[in-house]
Amino acid sequence: MSDAKKPWGGRFERSPSKFLDEFGASLPVDKRMWAEDIQGSIAHARMLANQGVISEGDADAIESGLSQIYREIRDGSFDFRIADEDIHMAIERTLTERIGPAGGRLHTARSRNDQVALDTRLFAKRRAVELLGATAKLRETLVRLASDHADTVMPGYTHLQKAQPVLFGHHLLAYFWMLSRDATRFRHAHEAADVMPLGSAALAGTTFPVDRRFVADRLGFVEVSANSMDSVSDRDFLLDLTYACTVTMIHLSRLCEELILWSSEEFGFVKMDDTYATGSSIMPQKKNPDFAELTRGKAGRVVGDLVGLLTVLKGLPLAYNKDMQEDKEGAFDAIDTTLDCLVVVDGMLATMSVDTARMRVAAHGGFMAATDLADYLVGTGMPFREAHEVVGRLVLTLEREGRTLQELSVAEFAAVDPAFGSDAPAAVNIDGVVARRVSEGGTGGEALATQLERARDVLAADTTWLEALAE
Ligand code: ARG
Repeated sequence: MSDAKKPWGGRFERSPSKFLDEFGASLPVDKRMWAEDIQGSIAHARMLANQGVISEGDADAIESGLSQIYREIRDGSFDFRIADEDIHMAIERTLTERIGPAGGRLHTARSRNDQVALDTRLFAKRRAVELLGATAKLRETLVRLASDHADTVMPGYTHLQKAQPVLFGHHLLAYFWMLSRDATRFRHAHEAADVMPLGSAALAGTTFPVDRRFVADRLGFVEVSANSMDSVSDRDFLLDLTYACTVTMIHLSRLCEELILWSSEEFGFVKMDDTYATGSSIMPQKKNPDFAELTRGKAGRVVGDLVGLLTVLKGLPLAYNKDMQEDKEGAFDAIDTTLDCLVVVDGMLATMSVDTARMRVAAHGGFMAATDLADYLVGTGMPFREAHEVVGRLVLTLEREGRTLQELSVAEFAAVDPAFGSDAPAAVNIDGVVARRVSEGGTGGEALATQLERARDVLAADTTWLEALAE
C-alpha cells in the first residue's frame, strides 16, 4: 500500500501498491505539460469566479498559489510525487495543501478528462508552431544553397541510374517543396488543436453555469468544442500532428539518404563538416556521416509513434478511457525527434562542402544527353522511335569504347547518321542540355530562377503566419 491519500479516495477501502501507482501514473510523461495545466487552471478559476460559482477571493488564492507552483516547477524545486498519478493531481494536491479549501474548489465543473484534453491541445498548438518555425529555418537554408548552386550541374537519377543532368539548386529545392507541404500539415495540425474542450467535464457537460467562450478567449483558442463526449475522446489533433511529423521525417530520411550516398568516395559530391561526422574506433581513415544516418533511422521510430497512437485509439468506445493516457509518450517523442532532426539537418546542410567540379564530371558520364540527341534528330524530321534507335546504337558503341557523347566530333556524328549536322555536338553539351529545360518547374536556369522566387514567396507567407500568431 502506498500512503498518499488519493483525491478520489472517498469510495475506496484500499490503495494501490507502489508498483501499481507507478504502473498507472502518467506523471513522468505529462509533467511536461505543467505550464499548460497551470495556465488552464487559472483561466478556469477566473471563469468560475466571474460566473459566481466561486468567490473572487478564492480565485485570487488559487491564482497566486498556482503562480507560486509555476515558479517552483520552472526553477526545478517542485516536489513531484509519483503517487499523484499525473500532472493535474500533482499540481492540485500541492495547491490544496497550501491554500486549503479554496484549492479544493478549483476542480468544480471540471474533470481530468476535459483538463487533459485542454492541456494536450495547448501543448500541441505550441509545438506545431515550433515545428513550423523549424521547417522555415531549414527551408531558408535550402533556398540559400539553391541560389548558391543555381548553375552547378550534377547528374539527375532515376532507379539510381544516371538519367538527365540537373542543377544542384533544382535538386535541393525539391526538398524545399516537400518541407513546405510539411509546414502546411503543421499549420493544419495547429488548427485541429485550436478548439477549447474545457466545460465538457467528465463526458456530459456540467450543471454549473460555465462560460466556455471566456476560457477559450483567455487561452487563445478560436473556438469551443461542440460536443462534450467528442471533446474528451478526440485525439485527432494529436494524430494530425504526429502524422505531420512522420511525413517530415520521411522527407528528411530521403534527404539524409542522398547526403550519405553523396558523401561516399564513389560519389564524392559533398563532404560533411567534421562536427556532423564521427570516426571509427578501429579504422583510422573513417569519417562517417552519422548524423544523417541517425536522422534516417529516427524516421523509423516516428513512424512507430504514429502507428502506436493510431492503434491505441482504434476501437475505443466513447468517452474517455484510460487507454488514452498512452497517447502522449509517442506523440511527444515524435515531436521532439522531428524538431531535433530538423535542426540537425539544417546544420548539416549549412556546413557541408560541395564538390561542384566532381558533380560536373559526373554529369558527363552515363550518356545523359541521349534524350536531347534523339530530340535533335526529331528536329531534322526523323520519327522519335527511329531517333531513339539510332542514339541507342550509338550509346552501345561508345560504351564498348569507353567514350562519352561529348567526345564525338562532327565527322563522327555524321558517320553514325547523315541526319547529324555540324550542330550535333551542341546538342549534347551538358550545360545546354540543362538550360533547355525551361518548362515551368523544370531544371533549366531560367525556370529555376522563377522557382526560387516562388519558394521565397511561400517562405514569406509562412513567416507572416507565424508572426500573426505571435501577436
Ligand atoms: N492522466 C490522465 C491521461 O493522461 C488524465 C485523465 C484521467 N482521467 C481519468 N478519469 N482517469 O489521460
